[in-house]
Amino acid sequence: MADGTASAPEQVVLVVDFGAQYAQLIARRVRELNVYSEIVSHTITAQEIAERKPSALILSGGPASVRVEGAPQLDPAIYDLGIPTFGICYGAQLLAQQLGGEVSRYDQGEYGRTTLRRTDGVESVLLHDGIDAEHTVWMSHFDAITEPPTGATAVASTANAPVAAFEDVVRRIYGVQHHPEVVHSEFGQAVLEQFLWREAAIEPTWTMGSIIDSSIEAIRAQVGDGRAICGLSGGVDSAVAAALVHRAIGDRLTCVYVDTGLMRLNESDQVVETFEKHQGIELIHVDAAARFFEPLAGVTEPEAKRKIIGETFIRVFEEAKAGLGDAAFLVQGTLYSDVVESGTGDTTATIKSHHNVGGLPDDVDFELVEPLRNLFKDEVRRVGSELGLPDEIVWRQPFPGPGLGVRIIGSVTPEKVAILQHADAVVRDEINKAGLEREIFQSFAVLADIRTVGVMGDERTYAHPIIIRAVNSDDVMTADWSRLPYDLLETMSNRIINEVDGVNRVAYDITSKPPGTIEWE
Ligand code: XMP
Repeated sequence: MADGTASAPEQVVLVVDFGAQYAQLIARRVRELNVYSEIVSHTITAQEIAERKPSALILSGGPASVRVEGAPQLDPAIYDLGIPTFGICYGAQLLAQQLGGEVSRYDQGEYGRTTLRRTDGVESVLLHDGIDAEHTVWMSHFDAITEPPTGATAVASTANAPVAAFEDVVRRIYGVQHHPEVVHSEFGQAVLEQFLWREAAIEPTWTMGSIIDSSIEAIRAQVGDGRAICGLSGGVDSAVAAALVHRAIGDRLTCVYVDTGLMRLNESDQVVETFEKHQGIELIHVDAAARFFEPLAGVTEPEAKRKIIGETFIRVFEEAKAGLGDAAFLVQGTLYSDVVESGTGDTTATIKSHHNVGGLPDDVDFELVEPLRNLFKDEVRRVGSELGLPDEIVWRQPFPGPGLGVRIIGSVTPEKVAILQHADAVVRDEINKAGLEREIFQSFAVLADIRTVGVMGDERTYAHPIIIRAVNSDDVMTADWSRLPYDLLETMSNRIINEVDGVNRVAYDITSKPPGTIEWE
């Protein structure tokens, strides 16, 4: 299936994934050097690699020990393809083990910051002149390389890693024990740059401009003179996907925005304003609030609420698209991280049934156009800015598909939505005023369907509490509650109680994930 993905540039670096979370970070660091990279599994064969014709290979770190039976290996025929190869941590140990070197259990492992020393009198291409002979690197290993691969030279050491870096400039095989991809490694990016730009001779041509140009070209090739529709949620992914497709095919794109009534304050106006007025994109705005409130009445069980919202959304979207019968293409904002994560085949328990507004059922009769399939979130944001989308959309925090429906604990009514919208607007406004918008991963208000007693102006009150939730997270799988300044919390609390009718108490959620989740339902 043609998928409208920007065609991959000619020069690609394949990051071979040996587990844990390292591969994605490496792929992003490579891209920051304007070199296109993709992640592949360590089960890839030499033939598959040869077909992809990568300009370089990077073997990632991983949690296993190469000395344990069953540890992930790499097809050794890959090393005969003559592709410049750089091993990191586990990847470096594997190179040593598979290519005639030695990996041993050493005195003790090294975890965290460590000093790396270039070996006196030895030329190094990776740790070249611009890099201090002694510098800080970030380590995480218990085994250590004691002999480099046959033909390679050891060029650096640390207290517990006698071969902390090795190089074979003839075969173009390189390895480092530390993690150059993490920010704590002082010259990490310089080492990667040296490998990619010099040793592998890759031109750093993968830039924002080239990404946009090649996406537009690919979309035009896929859609031809057909028509496309796009479900907009106001979130950054669908917004950027729509803007790109609009650049490519102009008014042959129609966007559908379903207002579920569960959006944040003024959100619907903002979407219409941005897309219809400023971007000139044809937009069908369906005000479907009543359609959602009716089946939600009296429903309190979180999964039941999620299912109702998801199903109603699909029905409303299908009705809207019925009038666009000649559209054969559906635009979706699928990201590279979604592609990588769905490729793991892991069977994990369903904690919550996620639903993406704008995401659709499997049986839709469209060909998908997914222009962001090769991009990470931060790259999508840069594309969005380049295409002229406003900061409020480009830097929007993640927002759950079911919207405020899962931030009202208990049954959902228009009245409670109105209370929550106002409290939430105060939280966002104060976070913005404090300049924390891009620093805090998510910040929002939650309304609990209980009432508590208070006193205001000598009167007894009996009203809802609002809970403020603010978290820091890198990947949503784990999160920590944000240490918001007390003064900021105080201002939020005062403003919410004074400005929002129906609220007489404010609490702050200090639960990390796990054991909590980010959303309350
Ligand atoms: P939890 O609550 O599971 O949330 O810790 C993790 C991240 O996912 C967002 N979230 C959703 N996003 N559809 C979405 O598109 C959903 O149904 C949904 N539920 C939660 C949540 O805001 C957080 O960023």
